[in-house]
Amino acid sequence: MFRRRVLSWYRRSGRDLPWRRTRDPYRVLVSEVMLQQTQVARVLPAYRRFLQRFPTLRGLARASLGEVLREWSGLGYNRRARDLHRIARMRSSLPRTVAELDTLPGIGTYTASAVACFAFGESTAFADTNIRRVLGRAVLGRTATDREGVELDRQIGSKREGARWHHALMDIGATICVASRPRCEVCPVRGICNYRGDERSSRRKQSPFAASDRRVRGAILRHLVGSSRGATVAALRTGINDPRVARLVGALAREGLVEVSYGSVRLPTR
Ligand code: ADE
Repeated sequence: MFRRRVLSWYRRSGRDLPWRRTRDPYRVLVSEVMLQQTQVARVLPAYRRFLQRFPTLRGLARASLGEVLREWSGLGYNRRARDLHRIARMRSSLPRTVAELDTLPGIGTYTASAVACFAFGESTAFADTNIRRVLGRAVLGRTATDREGVELDRQIGSKREGARWHHALMDIGATICVASRPRCEVCPVRGICNYRGDERSSRRKQSPFAASDRRVRGAILRHLVGSSRGATVAALRTGINDPRVARLVGALAREGLVEVSYGSVRLPTR
């Protein structure tokens, strides 16, 4: 009943998103990596541009990391771009199983399972934030934890229509079963859901420190995107006007996101 209602709602009202129209594992992977920390509306134009520029895993491997970061700029969390580039340099094609996908840089169990499901049609159980909220509220009356979410998905998910099942839950979570003020009156599972609308907003907030480190890291990379010769730490420090610049340039260099030589910082040319 639950499953049938969810799937038939999706047939009528699901979102038509470009990465749902392909089973090319590379395209699916790029979409999932972008969607890890970025909202659909911002991913849409970035996804199109990125794939125009790097249409295949091989094409991505041929580019320098600097070029990839340039194309990524604006999406933030740039380690994701570095990890995709590393994957492309490591492999000529993507593996099919969750276990093998899980070993790739930057790819956790969630992304591995999502790619195995959406690209290879494997029947896998996984739960992102939206899925945890929808399944958790429906069954437990509150948002499920990561572990609970995957277990609920394993128990009630559709094995035969795994891709459509997960897309449907993501859409219900994004458009109806939202964190605050869910629109239960238009929900396909109203009447068979255990949520009573009393959940405190339980969104885990990023610490203000992590959030602003991330902002400064983003600012450093944006400065470098605009200058092929790079910049000195002093110039970055002046331009961005934040005392964390020097420390964060060090962190970015250790992570391979920038190169520092003779006092000049720039995007990686390799
Ligand atoms: N379709 C496939 N994966 C998705 C995701 N993570 N968010 C939204 N739509 C998706």
